[in-house]
Amino acid sequence: MLGIEYPIIQAPMGPYDTKDLAVAVSNAGGFGMASHPVPDPQYGIATIISDDETRAKAYENIKQKFIGSVRHVAANAKGNFGVNFRVATVQFDVPMLLDELLKEYDTNPAVKKKLRVVICSAGDPSQRYLRKIKDAGLLRFHTVPSVYHAKKAEKSGVDAIVVTGYEAGGHVAHEPFHTFVTVPEVIKSVNLPVIAGGGVCDGSGLVAMLAFGAQAIYMGTRFIVTKECEFNDKVKVMIMESSVKNPREDPTIVTQGVYGPLRHLKNKFAFELAEMTQKLKRKEISIEDVYKFESAATYRAKGEEGNLDDGAIWCGQVAVRLHEKPSCKDVVDGIMAEATEIMQRLGKLAT
Ligand SMILES: Cc1cc2nc3c(=O)[nH]c(=O)nc-3n(C[C@H](O)[C@H](O)[C@H](O)COP(=O)(O)O)c2cc1C
Repeated sequence: MLGIEYPIIQAPMGPYDTKDLAVAVSNAGGFGMASHPVPDPQYGIATIISDDETRAKAYENIKQKFIGSVRHVAANAKGNFGVNFRVATVQFDVPMLLDELLKEYDTNPAVKKKLRVVICSAGDPSQRYLRKIKDAGLLRFHTVPSVYHAKKAEKSGVDAIVVTGYEAGGHVAHEPFHTFVTVPEVIKSVNLPVIAGGGVCDGSGLVAMLAFGAQAIYMGTRFIVTKECEFNDKVKVMIMESSVKNPREDPTIVTQGVYGPLRHLKNKFAFELAEMTQKLKRKEISIEDVYKFESAATYRAKGEEGNLDDGAIWCGQVAVRLHEKPSCKDVVDGIMAEATEIMQRLGKLAT
């Protein structure tokens, strides 16, 4: 469906830019994804609460960033690529960004040739405006964290399901459905191709997901810690060092905030957010206070300077397995070599 050499998909990681990462993964024979950005800090949370003029500027800013990424990946990737939209109700920018994407798809030959799929996530798959994706001739996948959501996505007419378990970095389900249990159950429950992730980082993970019946793996955290990923280098070091600091502890924590449950690397910000969530529940602070706190932390984690202890560092539990920062080509080649060796070894057991 995606026209890729290897069944390895780089998961989108908005609001951070993943355009260089998408190019590197695509050029290594995997499938790269451009991510859904947020506007620059000066617009704050203007796409959500603001006057019309500020919101219009924020929309223009986010459009430039998103279309810039799409053009960059289309121009530089050897293979095909996809884009992600988080389609939660607070993402008022998505209908506008989708229209811009489809305009670009119609007018930019490189985009027309290489853009294959829009993977939607974090929201209702049956929203009407999403039908435009398939009408334009693109594939539409939807990311889900559970069987319930997979069935809902199938009913809405998507072409494939992406399922990620509770180990995953970024958004996770309210209920802790882990990859090992959720992936095989989703595969049994839907009649669609399934891509699986959440905690996958190597060739044994690929073989495990293929054994469950998945068609490909979906990796975010593994690809953060690579040479080409444009994330702040300090974040990569924090991830690599996370299991060394306290080997008996999970280095990540799921916090609620205003965006729903998100898995972060443990730091001062993550613990403060957990505390603020409790205060919000007790109505001691407003939702706007939490929005501001969370948005500021997201921008801080994007910047090169700044204290990352105050930044939102979304990251999966698989951080504990990442000790080196290879190139994307080394990641992809390493996974394929290990998976091939495992499959040959297992094949011998069966004869
Ligand atoms: C920093 C970060 C940002 C993410 N942002 C998004 C996003 O914007 N949209 C989305 O669908 N998933 C997002 N995710 C989730 C990933 O797409 C993917 O499901 C997850 O990373 C897979 O689990 P893993 O981190 O264990 O590989 C994000 C994950 C991380 C780590």
